[in-house]
Amino acid sequence: MSTVQAVAFVVNKKKRPRVALPLQPFTTRFLPYPIPRTAMNETIRADFPILSRQVYGRPLVYLDNAATTQKPRVVVEAITDQYYNTNANVHRGVHFLSQQATELHEAARECVRSFIGAQQASEIVFTRGTTESINLLAESAGAAFMREGDELIISQMEHHSNIVPWQLLRERRGIVIKVCPITDDGLLDLEALSQLLNERTRIVSICHVSNVLGTVNPIRQIADMVHAHGALLVVDAAQSVPHRVVNVQEMDCDFLAFSGHKAYGPTGIGVLYGRETLLDQMPPYQGGGEMIQRVTFERTTYQQPPYKFEAGTPDYVGSHALAIALDYMQQTSLEAIARHEHDLTRYAIERLSAIDGLHIFGQAAARDAVVSFTIQGIHPLDLGTLLDRLGIAIRTGHHCAYPLMQRYGVESMARASFALYNTREEIDALAEGIQRVKKMF
Ligand code: ALA
Repeated sequence: MSTVQAVAFVVNKKKRPRVALPLQPFTTRFLPYPIPRTAMNETIRADFPILSRQVYGRPLVYLDNAATTQKPRVVVEAITDQYYNTNANVHRGVHFLSQQATELHEAARECVRSFIGAQQASEIVFTRGTTESINLLAESAGAAFMREGDELIISQMEHHSNIVPWQLLRERRGIVIKVCPITDDGLLDLEALSQLLNERTRIVSICHVSNVLGTVNPIRQIADMVHAHGALLVVDAAQSVPHRVVNVQEMDCDFLAFSGHKAYGPTGIGVLYGRETLLDQMPPYQGGGEMIQRVTFERTTYQQPPYKFEAGTPDYVGSHALAIALDYMQQTSLEAIARHEHDLTRYAIERLSAIDGLHIFGQAAARDAVVSFTIQGIHPLDLGTLLDRLGIAIRTGHHCAYPLMQRYGVESMARASFALYNTREEIDALAEGIQRVKKMF
């Protein structure tokens, strides 16, 4: 363990033993339902106090993890502990508390660097979340790398946060936005992408995992295509960092964004990774304290990255708690989390597709922990509201992806999304809940 990682563990003294997740592949041999809750689930679930609460007198079945995950006790305690014991502004004070808070904040940066395999801690910019990371890019990378008439490619499966910031850039700079289509099965059409790429393409911005379809895009292959045209690749990793190993060097992406709250961390903290050589060329995003070297009324000089992009007091409590959340995932084992969630996803697809009139969107072989669906004759909002009365939390609506809804000709969908603490029993509860709702219609 490096010194910086050691600092990150200061608050996380009660280091849990590594827990093995069940590794059996899904097979229908396990039917009929319900499958008994496993020891793994009990151990993991005990770390998340909220999971034991009741909703409308029923046990909470929380299947809205793509919107936000619940927080393990160590993360909540890290936040409390810091406010009780180590609270001071960072990078400013000579006093003890400020130095300790600064150490924790910079240890968190190092923890994120190591988690996503970046080369330098200076390539890790703390933001409020994926949305702010992409807004920062549209503003700053847009200014550095795009001129009027230059082209940017996004895809039909993007979240609004990877569409609207670029449209704002288009309004400011007159860039051209092109949209890569997807297939009916919910795969990125790579042939179409290769047709869209040309000498005017400057940036391609694509999600790693779709928040609606669960499709895992082949980022390394896309990076090779994009770089062959001299363009830059931005990856929206909001829905992949919580579910799989993400390594920016293996993916060979130029920028990557993710949010803390979807990865068991607190709200209000997120990350923008950028290659050092690119961040160096980009102008600041916001002005204020922290990001400057020297200010006079005539001229201001700026800090080096990442500080150049972090105006004002950073969310140093959030960064530390995020590091604790990432550490929690690593201690549990990212590979085991991925295997467990893939098992849950396959099981959910199996159970839901057996329901008459239920249609699942997206058939990608490489898919993460999201299942979106509609049911003939039942509006998703009604379904979500009635399931809620059974204690089952799913998301309904357009999922911040209006263009994707249009692609499939629907106004809205229902979505169940999974995390490391979910169980097959909860999927059974969902399937049985849907059957009850169907009987009411
Ligand atoms: N982007 C989050 C979701 O997909 C809010 O639900």
